[in-house]
Parts: sequence; structure tokens; C-alpha cells
Amino acid sequence: MKHFLTGFDWSSEDMLNLLYLARDMKKDPAKYRSDLLGKSIVILFEKPSLRTRTTFDIAMSRLGGHALYLDQQNGAIGKRETVKDYARNLSRWTDGIVARVFRHDTIEELARYGTVPVVNALCDLYHPGQALADFQTVREHYDDLSKVKLAYFGDGNNVTNSLLITGAKLGATVTAVCPKGYGPDVQIYEKALEIASKTGAKLTVTDDVDAVKGYDVAYTDTWVSMGDDTPLDAVRARYMKYQINRELLDRTGISWVLHCQPAHREYEITSEIMDGPMSLVYDQAENRMHVHAAILSTLLNQVRS
Ligand code: CP
Repeated sequence: MKHFLTGFDWSSEDMLNLLYLARDMKKDPAKYRSDLLGKSIVILFEKPSLRTRTTFDIAMSRLGGHALYLDQQNGAIGKRETVKDYARNLSRWTDGIVARVFRHDTIEELARYGTVPVVNALCDLYHPGQALADFQTVREHYDDLSKVKLAYFGDGNNVTNSLLITGAKLGATVTAVCPKGYGPDVQIYEKALEIASKTGAKLTVTDDVDAVKGYDVAYTDTWVSMGDDTPLDAVRARYMKYQINRELLDRTGISWVLHCQPAHREYEITSEIMDGPMSLVYDQAENRMHVHAAILSTLLNQVRS
């Protein structure tokens, strides 16, 4: 049985199929109204969310299914009862589990002990659905992803890791421009490089903003990840030169801007750019819904072996 856990677990062809399906679902939603009729998922979040929670729920309803959101009032996952029992119980009632968790191990455990597909809706290491929606957004402007150059600026985090993995699978050029010591996860980067050597993708990590001159897309995310209480002003000096602003876009010649949100305006991105004509951030947010619909349809309709 297939899950959606890291991005490593899906082939290049699988990812492209998800992108085709997401595009078709966006174009012709009526065709898919009964796709998951009678099916249900549980959405289980340890961390806050606007985009991910909403889009999984609405994606499920657009496909004719039902989504149940479980908050943490019954206790954090693994506290009141084991993750194993969570997974086994939920598997008796639902057709899929969508989970946002603090530690990737929790996702792996849900998948190990559950008997229904599990979707990673963000953990400490990965945000795979986000990266797929990001590439869908890019693809709306560039047919051939192998010709696209995407530069990620700022803190190397779970989103950066997933952009590298997904970029590697799709044959794109992805460069993470991060301060020294604050880049993406080294093991994930090395594993993504191995994939890139087979797909023709080009992956780089650097602290040099000028390394991405002539790129197509600039991407950023918060400088302080969810769950870390460090005030943004405390890290401003470290990240300010990676802020997406007019000067950086003029300097690199980049045409389009992405941000996975929530955005901290005037920190990692200026309002002028976020609200301006180069910004694709709300298309990107919309595409979360179409990509999530494609993931749910593919996973919940799979023939189990
Ligand atoms: N980008 C993203 O995952 O947004 P939420 O935290 O609001 O779900």
C-alpha cells in the first residue's frame, strides 16, 4: 500500500502523474465530484495550520468524500494512547490519515501500524505536498520543469528539503541560498543529489545570492520554523540579506516569487513584492487544494496488494 510520506517514496513518473491529475482537477472539477464518494479521512494535526488543514478538508469534499478534523483535546498523539493504537483504531473507521506532526518518526509509525494510506501534511523534516503544489504553480508558467531554475532564500527547513527532493524527481534546477550553518538537512540533500544524478536535475546549496543570477523563481519561507519561539527580530541580522525584495529581484533578474505562507511581511519578504505582479503566492496556496485532491484520489483509489 502506498503512502505519501517524504517524496522519496514516489517515483518521478508518480509525481508527474500527480501533477497531471491536479491540473485536470483544477480545470474540470465536476469530473471528479464522485471520485471518493463514501470514503472518509481523518485530519490529525499537532501543529497549527490554515492552508493545509483547509485544503485537505475541502479537497475531500470536492471529491465526494468526508474529512474529520481531530484536534488535540484528547491529548497529543502518543500521550493518551500509543501512536500504534491511534493508527490501528483510525484504520478501522477511515480510508486515510492525514497528519501534521512534530517528529517525522510519528508519521512513520502511523504508516507502519495503520492499514490505510498516510499523508504527511508537514513534519520536522518534510513538507512534500507543499513542494508538489509549488511545482504545479511553477508549471503553470513553464511547461518544461527541466528548464526551470528555482532559488530558495533563507532558512534551510522542511520546505527546503522537500523542494530539493521534488526538484530532483522532476529534473529541475533548485538552489538553496542559506546562511552558512543554516542550510537544508545534509542527509536529505545528499540523497536528493543521488536522485538528481539520474534525472538530470541540478541541486546546489550556497550562501551566495549572486549564484542564482538568471534564475526564474525566487522562493522563501519564515526564518523561524513552527514551534520555535525565537523572535524574528533576534535572527534578522542573519537572514536580512536573503530577504525577497525589489533589490534582490533586480540583482538576480528573477521573474516570479513564491512563499508557502504564513508570511512575515517585511522580514523574509516585503509587502511590495508579496502583493505585486511577480507574486504567485495565492496561486500557490490555491494549488495546495488541487494537489491534495490528486494525492487523496490516487492513494484512496489504489488497489491494495
Ligand atoms: N504552508 C502551509 O503549510 O500553511 P499552513 O501552516 O497554514 O498549513
